[in-house]
This record gives sequence, structure tokens and C-alpha cells, in this order.
Amino acid sequence: MGAIDIRPATIADLPRLAPLMEELRLAMARLNPAATPPAPAAILRQAEVYLRGPYNLIMLALAGEEAVGFIRVNARRGESFLPLPGRGLPLGRRVLERFRRWRRRREGVEEAAAALYLADLYLRPERRRQGLGRTLVREALARFSTVGAEMVYLFVVANNDEGIRFWTGLGFAPESVLMMRRGPTASGPEAIPREEGKGK
Ligand SMILES: CC(C)(COP(=O)(O)OP(=O)(O)OC[C@H]1O[C@@H](n2cnc3c(N)ncnc32)[C@H](O)[C@@H]1OP(=O)(O)O)[C@@H](O)C(=O)NCCC(=O)NCCS
Repeated sequence: MGAIDIRPATIADLPRLAPLMEELRLAMARLNPAATPPAPAAILRQAEVYLRGPYNLIMLALAGEEAVGFIRVNARRGESFLPLPGRGLPLGRRVLERFRRWRRRREGVEEAAAALYLADLYLRPERRRQGLGRTLVREALARFSTVGAEMVYLFVVANNDEGIRFWTGLGFAPESVLMMRRGPTASGPEAIPREEGKGK
């Protein structure tokens, strides 16, 4: 296989990115029965929002003209997204952010630390275990170096063994665990069974 080129995606890459996003959502739906993959048209719209908007960096791994993998990263401070380095916020968000800062100052709330969120990472199966996942993470994080982030985080489905091994190898470790119970007893009066003889 030939050399792989890694570069940020632009809106011209929409037809390359959308199928990869769809493959990732399908792969995740196979691992996580609670995740229903969105329809292709919705994925296309979502990809366009990411590519045009000021928050998400998408890097593509390309074999010639064919995209074989991608990563999507954004920066956050508390609840707010930070603009990509070198990009301004839209006017409405600028006003909102100024108001939020003013309110935080008034309430004496300390500014949250900046964090990078690894939102998506996907390599086509035949391109895995060639160091491309690691390279995409490294290249994407390097582009946020001016943000001064104090942490990088992501979510991984508990039965994604491949993903967990990959992230562990990059120095990531679980910080909190999402607990879930599925099935017809998820809500309603019998959701939590009473212990015999208690709580009557
Ligand atoms: C997880 C994923 C992105 C890894 O990409 P990749 O390009 O294969 O990863 P790399 O080749 O850079 O692997 C780097 C290291 O991670 C570890 N690793 C990666 N995949 C592994 C696997 N299947 N089993 C064990 N270790 C693995 C290894 O230590 C590897 O180094 P090595 O090959 O020298 O042993 C890829 O498997 C993938 O796209 N999976 C489906 C989507 C997904 O799960 N995304 C993450 C969601 S949170």
C-alpha cells in the first residue's frame, strides 16, 4: 500500500468524509445496541455543519484521493466550545460568552480549565494497526497547542476492546463510568425492586 497523507479536511472533502462518518456510526451501533445510527442524509448534514463551523477540527488520512480514516476534535471550557485556533466565534456566541464571563465574575465562579475532546476517530479495517490512529491523534492535538488545554478526554463504549486497548496505549485511563440498565424495568413503579420486608 502507498504512502498515507494526513491533512485537515475542508468543505471540499464532504463527499470523502460522510461515508467514513457513516461507517463509524455503524461500527459503534454494532458495539452499542442503544445507539441507533442516524440516516445517511442526517450524517451528511452533520458532516457539513462540522466542516463549515468554527469548532471542529477534522483531519483525514488519505491514500491518494481515497479517505481511509479521520479524527474529529474540539476544544471546550466548561460547557462552552472554544473556536478553532485562528477562528473567531460567530457574533451571537461572542455576546453570549461575554455575558457568561460577566456572570461568572459576578458570582465569583472560577473559570473552568480548557479541555480537548476527541469526538470521533475511525480507520477503515484494512488500514488499522499501521500507526495511523496514533498519528491522527498526535497531529490533531498538535494543532490545538495554543489553547493551553489541561486535559484531553473521550468516551469509549465499554465493550470496544480494540478502542480501549488503543487509548490505554496512548496513556488514557477511565475517570468515570457511565452505568446503565436496559429493558422494560428501566422506568415505572417496579424500576427498582423493593427488598423483601423493607421500605413499605
Ligand atoms: C481504535 C482505532 C482508531 C485504532 O486505530 P489504528 O490505526 O489501528 O491504531 P494504531 O495502529 O495507531 O495503534 C496504536 C497502538 O494502539 C494499540 N492497538 C490498536 N488497536 C489494537 C487492537 N486491535 N488490539 C490491541 N492493541 C491495539 C497498539 O498498542 C498499537 O500499537 P502497535 O500496533 O504498535 O502494537 C481503530 O481500531 C478503529 O478505527 N476502530 C473502530 C472505531 C473506534 O473504535 N474508534 C474509537 C472509538 S472511541
